Amino acid sequence: MVTGGLGYIGSHTVVELMQKGYQVHIIDNLSNSSLDVLEGIQRITGEIPPYDIFDLTEKDKVFQFFSKNSFDAIIHFAAFKAVGESVEKPLLYYRNNLNSLINILDGALNFGTKNLVFSSSCTVYGQPDDKDLPVTENSPIMPANSPYGNTKQISEEIITDFIKSNPQFSAILLRYFNPIGAHPTGFIGELPRGVPNNLVPFITQTAIGLRQELSVFGDDYNTPDGTPIRDYIDIMDLVDAHIVAVERLTKGQTKKNPEVFNLGTGRGLTVLEVIKTFEKVTEQKLNYKIVGRREGDIEKVWADTSFANKELGWKTKRTLADSLETAWKWEQYYQKNA
Ligand code: NAD
Ligand code: UD1
Repeated sequence: MVTGGLGYIGSHTVVELMQKGYQVHIIDNLSNSSLDVLEGIQRITGEIPPYDIFDLTEKDKVFQFFSKNSFDAIIHFAAFKAVGESVEKPLLYYRNNLNSLINILDGALNFGTKNLVFSSSCTVYGQPDDKDLPVTENSPIMPANSPYGNTKQISEEIITDFIKSNPQFSAILLRYFNPIGAHPTGFIGELPRGVPNNLVPFITQTAIGLRQELSVFGDDYNTPDGTPIRDYIDIMDLVDAHIVAVERLTKGQTKKNPEVFNLGTGRGLTVLEVIKTFEKVTEQKLNYKIVGRREGDIEKVWADTSFANKELGWKTKRTLADSLETAWKWEQYYQKNA
């Protein structure tokens, strides 16, 4: 069961699961995606997987769904993720992200599904002290700087408490850093509704002429070129880790409950480094300008990935150039076919 399976990370994971021979069932309510994604999935895999369109905050629908299907594992991607919007509409975020999770756990408990992979975020680390960089899974959890971030912290706590009273249930919490890029075919990719908040879709939409100019939010941070540092991980590397996590759960190989892993590359890059690499690999001149800082942004964070590398036997393989190339390929494909 893949919730949010028509979204950015979900759709790429669905494709890889299908190509590995898994039977996948998608649930989505199209709040941040569209049925067109199925076409991309079909172009890559030759099939449209089973899917149901409903809202996971509706408990009756969730229970009805579980009563008709059984699953070896759930990957729970479905959530709202715009940090800024969550500050403006906190209740929307708490209701959607927490009620969905509670309903899924309740459904799993009542209908016998025992394994969960949960999409968490590096946002749980807030702005770590310099001495704590790169962050490990044991780095301190900082007070969340947005309601979105808080939903991830609370979700991790809900899952942990749920497991204490239901130890037959196992979970892996994956803390993503900054996923970027698209499927190498360019048939699926990141497709935010409206104006993108995230850096890479804003870059590709500017390069293709949909947006006039990219605003770089601040160049007065304490970093080599003054722009913030993030750990950008290719979507396909991120997906690989989900496959390993599902296998680990279904084969009963987890060593703790829940297990927590950082999914990043271990390398921090500045915004200007990303822009320059994009210009180089795509031979596009990007129109950008430095503006003031964006509220809520942190200065720098990147992952210590040694625990995930060792325990999961997983390593990132793609470079920043690979990710920006696939993101650009997807943007061009989408604008031609939209
Ligand atoms: P996305 O918005 O592209 O995908 C989420 C999908 O879930 C969408 O298709 C949306 O329609 C669906 N959805 C949302 N609420 C739902 C509900 N109540 N019922 C049914 N479907 C619902 O986002 P994404 O980038 O693919 O992110 C997936 C997960 O990873 C999210 O939990 C997000 O918080 C987490 N995450 C993302 C990033 C990132 O930068 N993309 C970073 C860290 C963590
Ligand atoms: C944030 C959260 C992450 C969350 C994600 C969802 C942190 C550390 N990370 O990522 O957990 O899941 O949002 O969307 O809080 N930038 C520009 N111009 C733009 C857009 C972005 O300069 O138009 C810069 C930002 O200032 C930032 C970098 O690019 O330094 C990456 O920004 P973005 O892609 O929005 O991701 P985060 O804010 O890091």
